[in-house]
Amino acid sequence: MSELTYMPLDTSLSQRRILLGVSGGIAAYKSCELVRRLRDLGAQVRVVMTESARHFVGTTTFQALSGQIVHTSLWDTQAEAAMGHIELARWAQRILVAPASADVLARLAHGHADDLLSTLCLVSTAPLYLAAAMNQQMWAHAAVQANVNTLRARGVHVLGPAEGGQACGEIGAGRMLEPQVLRDVLVSSFAEGALTDLRVVVSAGPTFEDIDAVRFIGNRSSGKMGFSVAQAAAEAGAQVSLVAGPVSLPTPVGVVQRVDVRSAEQMHSAVLDACAQADIYIAAAAVGDYRPLARSDCKLKKKSGAEVELTLTENPDILASLAAQPKPPFLVGFAAETHDVENYARVKLKCKGMDMIVANQVGERLGFDAPDNALNLYWADGSMELPRNDKLNLARQLIVQVAARYQMVRT
Ligand code: PMT
Repeated sequence: MSELTYMPLDTSLSQRRILLGVSGGIAAYKSCELVRRLRDLGAQVRVVMTESARHFVGTTTFQALSGQIVHTSLWDTQAEAAMGHIELARWAQRILVAPASADVLARLAHGHADDLLSTLCLVSTAPLYLAAAMNQQMWAHAAVQANVNTLRARGVHVLGPAEGGQACGEIGAGRMLEPQVLRDVLVSSFAEGALTDLRVVVSAGPTFEDIDAVRFIGNRSSGKMGFSVAQAAAEAGAQVSLVAGPVSLPTPVGVVQRVDVRSAEQMHSAVLDACAQADIYIAAAAVGDYRPLARSDCKLKKKSGAEVELTLTENPDILASLAAQPKPPFLVGFAAETHDVENYARVKLKCKGMDMIVANQVGERLGFDAPDNALNLYWADGSMELPRNDKLNLARQLIVQVAARYQMVRT
């Protein structure tokens, strides 16, 4: 396939220069499809393969798909004559390593520079995206997670992995994100947005407070509003972490980290961890205010004719805990009310130390689990109405307002 005969189907990545690193993993076969999809959008793609990657896919395949010489070694004089490795690092506007094996994560976290791919990642100033893919036990290992945290703290975008069946026969988090998802992440990375370079944490969904082994106290939140907010923040250029209660929704494109929790206490600790590095926290989750004082490990037995008492104790308040910190992120809370919405929302804005509150009326067919919503935003000296719309459109409008208030207050 020659460079001259390849016609892009769409031009949204036209003139964009993407360096694709391929490391050793079975998911390398999906990266062939990724090259094709990037070029369909007009991108120029140059491929760098590690030695292990070549055990899975041959260089000829990537050469044919990219229309370019494939780079494999720091010491390849022919490739150096065409484009030296420093030049290649400068050429790239984005570097995406897909699949990024546990070994690559470790090497990049520790600054190795003894092969072409790791050297390029050190030399280049282009944003770095790593599509993690490995066995699910490896991904869960403390050493891998420590490397991921190190990389994220440096602003590297670690994408995925997704959950599901693995080539090794195991099931869990370890699959590389699909090529079209990775392509969409790169497309949105070029769209300069209102939250570019900001780190945003979003909470979403309900919490479940266990009574015994089979029963819990929950609420009707589906997570749709919070997931839409996470997607809108990612579209606006933010590096988004999503802390989700028990919901069955796919992770929105562009969200770099998702932590699933069940109870309010778990959500409290996951949000506080994620917010250690955050600029903005948006609390769309419907967090249980109380939990049973005692949880039974066995199913409690019915006592016919007897009244049963359940003693509840208060859960920690996530927003209030963050507001009490010396340097809290910009705090955006939600208020779900059945009546007297503005009054209760303004009280929460003040009591919980928020910068902005998003009020919605909830009821039988309102707010919870509905495809659409209507919002009223309040801050210390202003307010704004966002009329009924579907949740994603509302979330996009909300993000514009959050970005504007954040710029005014924090910069
Ligand atoms: O998930 P959906 O089905 O799409 O529904 C969306 C929604 C109605 C759940 C959402 O729009 C919404 O209003 N979320 C907040 C619901 C809620 O818990 O409101 P609240 O008024 O009880 O709490 C006020 C704020 O304090 C919220 O931002 C909440 O996340 C936060 N909070 C509450 C308790 C707690 N222990 N810690 C908290 O931080």
